[in-house]
Amino acid sequence: MKIGNLVLDNPLMLAPMAGITQLPFRRLAREAGCALVVTEMVSVKGLVHGSKKTAELLMSHPSERPLSAQIFGADPEVMKEAAQIVQGLGADLLDVNLGCSVRKVVRQGAGAALMREPEKLETILKAIRSAVSLPLTVKMRTGWEPSGEQAIIAARIAEDCGVDAVAIHPRTAIQGFGGRADWSVIARLKDSVAVPVIGNGDIQGPDDVLRMQRETGCDGVMIGRASIGNPWIFAQALDLINSRPTGRPDFPNRLDTVLRYIEYSVDHFGEDRAVPMMRSRLGWFTKGLPRSSRFRDTIARLKNRQDMVDAVHAFFG
Ligand SMILES: Cc1cc2nc3c(=O)[nH]c(=O)nc-3n(C[C@H](O)[C@H](O)[C@H](O)COP(=O)(O)O)c2cc1C
Repeated sequence: MKIGNLVLDNPLMLAPMAGITQLPFRRLAREAGCALVVTEMVSVKGLVHGSKKTAELLMSHPSERPLSAQIFGADPEVMKEAAQIVQGLGADLLDVNLGCSVRKVVRQGAGAALMREPEKLETILKAIRSAVSLPLTVKMRTGWEPSGEQAIIAARIAEDCGVDAVAIHPRTAIQGFGGRADWSVIARLKDSVAVPVIGNGDIQGPDDVLRMQRETGCDGVMIGRASIGNPWIFAQALDLINSRPTGRPDFPNRLDTVLRYIEYSVDHFGEDRAVPMMRSRLGWFTKGLPRSSRFRDTIARLKNRQDMVDAVHAFFG
């Protein structure tokens, strides 16, 4: 699959998830075979004002490349300036958020709000396109009503402005995460634009990747929640795509992944910040396994990296 001039190894992508798809998590996804990872959404205002916290969201590691950086905002000039900053920082791809429906974001006219303002969307995308040469994508929802018309209009505008691919999570902005993603909207989008279409929403297991490709004709498949604590979903889906036998990860494999997660988190955040973060995150990887609630109780009390590593060895060993 190709996005602009960027050639991807396979059609699998990690969905951006604020608070989750930080650098350590993205590295695990890439190591499991996911072809493209995306940062959490990054405020353009924070970027142009030089916020340290915002800049941290764009920190990267060679092993996760190619990296897409997702920005959100509403002001064309600020969006343009932020896009230039992202390009200057060395991201491989730039993604514009048209899907976030959180009130704080929509109220400022950003995220999903742009799907009901086609003229403003066009101005923003033209401004960004004129300012950067990076491959450019948008990630949208169905819009504010379920028909999918707003998505088709937004995707055509994006294509006309020189956007290189369109990702869609086909739920309405009002729906939030309720109900089901309407994959028929992905299929309609695929019929409406010539640029690659990336389908997203409700992939729960590796089989769903093939089903989404079959039912919608999408070029890429983006996985979000099902990858939390489960980066192996990418390896399993790749096996299915390549008609190889696949299976669930065994305990040594899980142990190795969780140890790498701790190591990458300490590398990136430093031990003092990483340890409290890992207290909840390690639980993602043991969910549903025998004795996982006792493991969670144990790690909730741990105060340093070595104790965490020991607890993980004890659990998976
Ligand atoms: C905790 C969380 C944070 C999210 N943050 C973002 C974000 O920063 N940018 C974005 O475009 N979508 C965000 N999303 C939406 C996901 O990218 C994705 O579209 C959605 O979860 C549907 O895909 P899934 O069913 O595979 O999870 C977020 C979703 C979750 C659950």
